[in-house]
Amino acid sequence: MKVTIIGGGGRVGACAAFALQCGGIVSEIQILDANQDAAEGEALDLLHGAAMCADQRIYTGDYARGKDSDIFVITAGLRRKPDESRLDLINRNMALFNQILDSIASAGMKREAIVFVVSNPVDVLTQAAVRRLDLPWRQVIGLGTMLDTSRFSSMIAAALQLAPAQVKALMLGEHGDSMVPIWSSASVNGLPLSGVKALNPGLMMQLAERARTSGAEVIKKKGGAGWAVGVAMREVIHAIALNSRTLLPVSSLQQGAYGIRNVCLSVPTVIGRNGVLSHEEIELWPKEKTGLQNSARALQDMLGKIGMN
Ligand code: 2OP
Repeated sequence: MKVTIIGGGGRVGACAAFALQCGGIVSEIQILDANQDAAEGEALDLLHGAAMCADQRIYTGDYARGKDSDIFVITAGLRRKPDESRLDLINRNMALFNQILDSIASAGMKREAIVFVVSNPVDVLTQAAVRRLDLPWRQVIGLGTMLDTSRFSSMIAAALQLAPAQVKALMLGEHGDSMVPIWSSASVNGLPLSGVKALNPGLMMQLAERARTSGAEVIKKKGGAGWAVGVAMREVIHAIALNSRTLLPVSSLQQGAYGIRNVCLSVPTVIGRNGVLSHEEIELWPKEKTGLQNSARALQDMLGKIGMN
């Protein structure tokens, strides 16, 4: 399984490459970046650790060398300023993003290749990729609320002093201000989290708000996410590589689940080698379903503002 990371010379792409190297599942990682020195530096640094990690080929190249990629990961793009919303970023990133899509397409790509969008605003750019590339919508996936779900689950575990890997709490909808915390299915080792005494409504509000604003918080403290977004990306890439039919909160073009269509956002999605295998309309509390539909409206409004709907 060959993965080409476009923007791999930057923090997000490099952290994803490191997560994939430690994961040892994919066999080839190509690092592409407009900053060729940065791409070569990251590939070299990763290569130096190869003997302690996995039998993978890690290198830099170009779009032509990438045409046999199974997965194109796009992390390239300008980062948000601390007070800037992801949707505000759109105008600065759309032109660059379209250029990347055209470079992938003109170099040639496998019919079964997957395009995995991470650049922000990820839901809008995922939809742009569906429209611009001649690929079935199932083969275009956005990281969506995978990172938000990891932050939400990790912070709940920390607050309740539980084992982080046992806490599962989804964020769904937009990877942005309108994301929706899903308490109805939150669990610890498969048991309802609502049974944990320390979890009161005040703490629930606080944890959901902290997760929602974590992106801006990390930008303010260290300039942008890296480690957590890298492992969130690894989960999606491994689900594709292993054809594992993993159910993940990732962004894709909606086909009617929860009454939502023609917009990209995150609903429970089964992922395998061919990308989106299905959207699973898991039962939600009424206010959660309303929140999801509000998220869809917020994204459709933005699409309207930039002439994309
Ligand atoms: C974040 O939430 C990178 O948008 C990403 O940090």
